[in-house]
Amino acid sequence: MAARKRAQTATTTEQEKPKSQDPTTATTKTATTTTTSSNEPPTAPLKSKTSFILKLSLLLLAPYFYLIFHHYNIDRDLKKSILINAVLSLVGFFVTVKIIPVASRYVLRRNLFGYDINKKGTPGGTLRVPESLGIVVGIVFLVVAILFQYFNLTSDSNWLVEYNAALASICFMTLLGFVDDVLDVPWRVKLLLPSVAALPLLMAYAGHTTIIIPKPLIPYVGLEILDLGWIYKLYMGLLAVFCTNSINIHAGLNGLEVGQTVVIASAILIHNIMQIGATTDPEYKQAHAFSIYLVQPFLATSLALLSFNWYPSSVFVGDTYTYFAGMTMAVVGILGHFSETLLVFFAPQVLNFLLSLPQLSGLVPCPRHRLPRFDPKTGLLTGTNDGTLVNFTLRLLGRKSEKSLCIVLLVFQAIACCLCFALRYFLTGWYK
Ligand code: UD1
Ligand code: MG
Repeated sequence: MAARKRAQTATTTEQEKPKSQDPTTATTKTATTTTTSSNEPPTAPLKSKTSFILKLSLLLLAPYFYLIFHHYNIDRDLKKSILINAVLSLVGFFVTVKIIPVASRYVLRRNLFGYDINKKGTPGGTLRVPESLGIVVGIVFLVVAILFQYFNLTSDSNWLVEYNAALASICFMTLLGFVDDVLDVPWRVKLLLPSVAALPLLMAYAGHTTIIIPKPLIPYVGLEILDLGWIYKLYMGLLAVFCTNSINIHAGLNGLEVGQTVVIASAILIHNIMQIGATTDPEYKQAHAFSIYLVQPFLATSLALLSFNWYPSSVFVGDTYTYFAGMTMAVVGILGHFSETLLVFFAPQVLNFLLSLPQLSGLVPCPRHRLPRFDPKTGLLTGTNDGTLVNFTLRLLGRKSEKSLCIVLLVFQAIACCLCFALRYFLTGWYK
């Protein structure tokens, strides 16, 4: 299984490491079924930082609630649907917090764990950390999103077709992410998995295939709206591939995978409510309401995972979560018709992708893990030459602890989202 591979350090390349040639894999798997637990390395203590997460949620969601309840005059029915969805999401949060410890025991039993590479050489680096806990988030999210259809007061049946196609794509992606965690798929194959998972949505998509040209560019293009036809569907598929992989490769620090997602999801919620407040077009409102109905439970369940994944991580999220998260955000961006805005929210991920290109394209050797160098004596990380935003930030700002580096990167993410709001206002003049 994947567990022993995850414990390897950054010296092995992906190409050098076919699964069948890993002699320790079979040993470990046998060991779990034949030896006593006294032979197993200790497990990371399972602690939920729920009160910190609740405070963080208030900080992230305060502007959103202010806009819904105070700033805009939102239709009563729509507001009611959003509130019902929010209550279901809150239940989803607590259910996820309850299930993660149970699921952690199960994944450890099946030998699905990793070692914390940024703690190598300290006692923390010898602990087994349960992997793939994103599976809990994926399942609770899907249950909430499916149940919500019963309570949605504003949706018509046309929306339900696309809503369910979106859920099918997210579900398919979660499955493929879990397959990847268990089988450790070579990453060049990983790159393609989201294009398969996006198929249900691409096939069911009956919306428009046009893009709005930003106001300053209209004189040059000569059009206000451009119809892209089938190219739009290709673009949707590529967006799904980009979102999933870019979240997955901007990773490796405790809390970073979920943290970046939580910041982007909060920005998506704010963007949606601003668009609803600023328009009178019912179809347009519905598109953004649809996005809110998916993002609220997504954010709530992700925050529950973050409470266990924040530094020092009690659980790892796995590719199950990174793929699930990327696909969910791609899907809401596509069906809410704000994929261009989404890409600006993803600015740090775009930068990380550009920095990664030489290694991803094979021009420069790509180790299995492209993480910074950890010094057990000082507890600080130093940037390596691997092309990631994590290393780039360390080279720019100097050595940092894992926790403060993660906070710096999340602040970058929040700044990117704020700049996106400003940019959108400047380009389109929207948001009243
Ligand atoms: C991607 C990155 C890889 C990075 C990894 C970290 C590329 C091409 N791949 O690989 O460089 O090292 O994500 O997630 O950019 N881990 C930690 N601390 C954490 C999170 C993860 O040490 O906070 C380690 C653990 O050993 C864990 C493993 O990373 O088991 C998970 O790696 P995985 O998600 O399988 O890596 P990839 O997504 O393939
Ligand atoms: Mg990963």
